[in-house]
Amino acid sequence: MSQPTTVKGPWVGSGAILLVLLVSVGMFYYEYQVAPVANKPHIPQKITIYILAEQWAFMWNGTIDTHNTPIVVYVGDTVTFHVHGIWQQDPSFHEHGFFIEGLMDSPMTVMKGQDLIFTIVPTQPGDYTIICTVFCGAGHANMNGQFDVLS
Ligand code: CUA
Repeated sequence: MSQPTTVKGPWVGSGAILLVLLVSVGMFYYEYQVAPVANKPHIPQKITIYILAEQWAFMWNGTIDTHNTPIVVYVGDTVTFHVHGIWQQDPSFHEHGFFIEGLMDSPMTVMKGQDLIFTIVPTQPGDYTIICTVFCGAGHANMNGQFDVLS
């Protein structure tokens, strides 16, 4: 008489562990790769942005021209700007303006060599334009940048 064989010992345990592992990996994959990211609410961040206001561009982190590469934040983010003014082309001017159209109440003035520090919290999504509002030499009209707020 042969008895029915029962599987015992480590094989049952490792099978269960493998199953749990596979399910976990599957859930993780679904959460971050399959489920649409757009449905996730953005958790507001504190963001610090360093801008060099030079003749005649707003440079983000000193190297990225905001005219070609927009600064991107989300609605509800607390965005602190540090804007530093330099005049390497024409030293006869001493001021730049800094104004984000549609987002700021009034333009700010950046004096030569100084840091302008202020904080905004965007409440409406949109693609906004940063402009210089003080005449600062030959390229003043081209001195602008992009600031995009995602919802
Ligand atoms: Cu800078 Cu006008």
